[in-house]
Amino acid sequence: MDDRPPPSRHLGLDLGGTNIKWVVVERDGDDWRPLERDHVATPTADGPDAVLPRLVAVGAEALARCPGVGSVGIGVPGLYDPATGTTRFLVNFPGGWPGVPVAGAVGGALGLPAFLINDARAFGLAELRLGAGRGASSMIGLTLGTGIGGVIAMDGVVVQGHDGTAGEIGHQTIDPDGPWCGCGNRGCLEAFARADQIAAACGTSTAEEAVARARDGDGRAIEGLAQIGRYLGIGIANMIAVLSPDRIVIGGGIAAAADVLLVPIRDELRRRVRTTSLGAVELVTAELGTWAGAIGAAIHGAETAAAADHPAATGKGAAADRHASVGAR
Ligand code: BGC
Repeated sequence: MDDRPPPSRHLGLDLGGTNIKWVVVERDGDDWRPLERDHVATPTADGPDAVLPRLVAVGAEALARCPGVGSVGIGVPGLYDPATGTTRFLVNFPGGWPGVPVAGAVGGALGLPAFLINDARAFGLAELRLGAGRGASSMIGLTLGTGIGGVIAMDGVVVQGHDGTAGEIGHQTIDPDGPWCGCGNRGCLEAFARADQIAAACGTSTAEEAVARARDGDGRAIEGLAQIGRYLGIGIANMIAVLSPDRIVIGGGIAAAADVLLVPIRDELRRRVRTTSLGAVELVTAELGTWAGAIGAAIHGAETAAAADHPAATGKGAAADRHASVGAR
């Protein structure tokens, strides 16, 4: 007799500065199938009092369109407290959102167990399970956009650290005397390579325009992107020295720029990596596009809810995450 659990449905919300994206995925054993998806604008400038109701409304619409959902995972663009489901610091959101009870508010209103995950870790989880990270023994991922997100996965598991902050690749120091980062440190990779820095380095008003100009052969844009690629290459070389990944996945809002960035990134890796063979390290672009974060948030919610139902099998992490959903049950 087949004793596998029946297929289940899970909602993922990806809170971005521009859009809130949602996806409902169906889990059938190890298979994850996105069923429905959509997005709405995020009223970021109006703060949590406007954004939380929007998240709830988006979630309610998703549940109406796709009934039978058992959990909700929410990707947030920054630091959060897994024990309480509150945000700690969203670097690129006005006011930084200290202490906002996102999991409790959304889960409580939707009547579902709710779990937070960092947006880049959600991206990585989705790419690992059903995208460009499949089959990797160890993977690192970067999301390029308003901020630089990061994720580390070892042996099929996204590494979270004790508080969900492991993998903040964008906040490693590249230059001790470099520009100030929104996080309060100087010289972070993000301070050199986030979208507005790409535009500044290329003399354009947006990163997208910089990429378009580089493709048209504009010398300043090509030079600017080479410089950004160099910084990214330094950051990735550091990760290779520490973690020896066999797959590096580049994604995020400006991943479309990957073709013009991969060349300078590879050049820098060849200059700096001395500990392992680059021949064994695949550098690839993400496969799931802009929906990866929402898909990964849904997977995180599903896996954490399942683990919380079996605390003996999973130990401390599940217990902490179960706490995050207290207000939601
Ligand atoms: C934040 C990360 C986040 C990334 C992408 C960075 O500024 O510190 O936590 O993943 O932006 O949103």
